[in-house]
Amino acid sequence: MGVKIVAMGSYIPENILTNADLEKIVETSDSWIVERTGIRERHIASPEDATSDLAYRAAVKALQKAELEPEQIDVILVATACPDYLFPATACIVQAHLGAKRSACFDIEAACPGFIYALEIARGLLSIPNYRNILVIGAETLSRITDYTDRNTCVLFGDGAGAAVVTKDNSDSDILSSYLKGNGEVHKLLMLPAGGSRKPASFETVRDRDHYLKMQGREVFKHAVNGMQDAAQKVLERAGFRSEDIDWLVPHQANIRIIEATREKLGIQPNKVYVNIDRMGNTSAASIPIALSEMEDKGLLKRGQLVLIVSFGAGFIYGAMLLRW
Ligand code: UT7
Repeated sequence: MGVKIVAMGSYIPENILTNADLEKIVETSDSWIVERTGIRERHIASPEDATSDLAYRAAVKALQKAELEPEQIDVILVATACPDYLFPATACIVQAHLGAKRSACFDIEAACPGFIYALEIARGLLSIPNYRNILVIGAETLSRITDYTDRNTCVLFGDGAGAAVVTKDNSDSDILSSYLKGNGEVHKLLMLPAGGSRKPASFETVRDRDHYLKMQGREVFKHAVNGMQDAAQKVLERAGFRSEDIDWLVPHQANIRIIEATREKLGIQPNKVYVNIDRMGNTSAASIPIALSEMEDKGLLKRGQLVLIVSFGAGFIYGAMLLRW
């Protein structure tokens, strides 16, 4: 059985938050943000939109490109850390908007590598006869859980969504190898403390701003570089390729210095790395599908190319996949 990524789509909100805008909100500067993160601007969802709205628009584009009707979708998988609600799943709301009446739907909370985790789950589901077409979406409205009084985090995040239509046929698989890994021991370094069963919403949690994302950036940084390198090397080994065989490295866009360190450790040429962090910021689970969708639209991805996707995020969890485009 061959698992195929037949089409990509994305949706980027129109509203832009620039570094100059942030200079007016917290004590920061364009030069600090650009130098330490590589980010110049990020997109922010309209107040009336939730994650499912972004996910829906990305899905519509992917379905159009795949020339599939919503009724032909068997499963909708949404990877997100910013669901519309704690429950029901954001995927169910996307299903209703699409009118994908036949599909199963559920969310995956796998932070920034969520799209890679969701692709791996889709690959597993496609090995079962019942499933043929799966919509894999990474969608985030991180601006809703970002504390715009905390300069350590508020300069980093943006909103957006990317979607892939994944199907199967009798040819070779587009997914050559994969690797997923977790390290829950350090889960407190990046988290949203309140609103779950550990710390339900209360007057105190709101007062203490515990419904916003908290991160110990410097610690996360070190783990991110090691995790991304480890996962990338594992998928190369598993598929029997070397880093020089790669046509494109498409890393999670969290920090240009993490991207650069990962690239260097792997020994990949700078012109083979796709970077859009300057325009997008960190869009967590949406970052890789947005990048792939943009690359496809720009004609950068050619059939047969080797594409390495790799990501790291809260948990900690990380993962990579080697794709034959
Ligand atoms: O996507 C999931 C995974 N997430 C990541 O991979 C993020 C990983 N971490 C990072 O990208 C970086 O650690 C950050 C961009 C978050 C921070 O960069 P850093 O170089 O690690 O800075 P730092 O936290 O060590 O802070 C250095 C200094 C501090 O000042 P002092 O204590 O040295 O006086 C901060 O208070 O920079 C200060 N600082 C800022 N200054 C201006 C922190 N944020 C800002 C800011 N503007 N926005």
